[in-house]
Amino acid sequence: MKNKIILVGGAGYIGTVLTNHLLLMGYEVLCLDNLIYDQSECIKSFLKNKNYKFANIDIRNKNDLSECFHENCTVILLAGLVGDPISKKYQIESDEINLEGIFNVINICESKKIKRFVFTSTCSNYGITDNNVRANENHELNPLSLYAKAKVQIEKYLLEKKNFSNLKPTILRFATAFGLSPRMRFDLTVNEFTKDLVLGKELVVYDAHTWRPYCHTVDFARLICQTITIDIDKISFEVFNVGDNSNNFSKKMIVDEVLKYIPNGKVKYLEKGFDKRNYIVDFSKVNLVLGFKASYSVQKGIEEIIAEIKKGTYDFRTENQYGNYNLR
Ligand SMILES: NC(=O)c1ccc[n+]([C@@H]2O[C@H](COP(=O)([O-])OP(=O)(O)OC[C@H]3O[C@@H](n4cnc5c(N)ncnc54)[C@H](O)[C@@H]3O)[C@@H](O)[C@H]2O)c1
Repeated sequence: MKNKIILVGGAGYIGTVLTNHLLLMGYEVLCLDNLIYDQSECIKSFLKNKNYKFANIDIRNKNDLSECFHENCTVILLAGLVGDPISKKYQIESDEINLEGIFNVINICESKKIKRFVFTSTCSNYGITDNNVRANENHELNPLSLYAKAKVQIEKYLLEKKNFSNLKPTILRFATAFGLSPRMRFDLTVNEFTKDLVLGKELVVYDAHTWRPYCHTVDFARLICQTITIDIDKISFEVFNVGDNSNNFSKKMIVDEVLKYIPNGKVKYLEKGFDKRNYIVDFSKVNLVLGFKASYSVQKGIEEIIAEIKKGTYDFRTENQYGNYNLR
């Protein structure tokens, strides 16, 4: 019998795409999420599936959490205040959720003798790298934001448990996500640039020659599904960068790709934005050990977003409704 999956933070951008995949694979999914962006719409269709259960749980509340976990389940931890802007805007909540709340989940999983545990971290942990270097998992970490600093702290906490714990964590450092999701986010670079240019807005781009790696939501979901089935000893206490070498892009390169579809799009380039991140990442390990190769290029993601916007799927009349802008 397949282990039951507990998706902590499963009602988010990546979590809802992953839920689709897990349900299709026949898993039972329990989603624990406090719907911090008031995004209940995006899980409505799952509620009809007998293999899907939802509990409105805040990871800051230890007592509520404790009742949800039991020994033979697999835990995937996606919850958090995700992104530099939202964690900067809500610094108290960020510490409460991205540190204390995450520690709660880890400690409860440990006390319930859970083994399989996936923690989603971020390639933002690399901060700034030399443009000639692709950061692999052993590269020095240089987190610049509150968000990435918390991720680095949690990674360290988990890795220090080696030889002292029943918990067998795998740490996935995700590239920046793009692509469609039932809980859409247009506050992420590829999605945002595409949306602004399709809607005929002037796109303002700071520091166009800074680099970052990107990865599609569906590819993250595929990789996680693979991670939870593989021999646990092959991946426990291992860190993987998740993405694909071919999807390292500068902001200018992304704009140029979008402009191929929207040739009259207006773009203003400015320098010295507040986001100093600039990193190129090496994804050889995830490719060699897990055989992972992205199925989506950035170009394919852009095409898909343009098509979805043109279909009229999104209502852009209310500013900032698709993304991590304001807590409910
Ligand atoms: N999206 C990206 O570009 C990206 C890049 C690197 C890493 N990641 C990691 O992937 C994971 C998922 O990211 P995402 O883009 O889906 O983010 P998201 O913001 O869409 O999802 C996070 C989810 O956590 C929930 N949540 C927040 N606070 C909570 C609390 N106190 N209790 C319970 N639930 C809470 C939210 O309601 C939301 O459903 C995160 O761990 C993130 O750090 C994402």
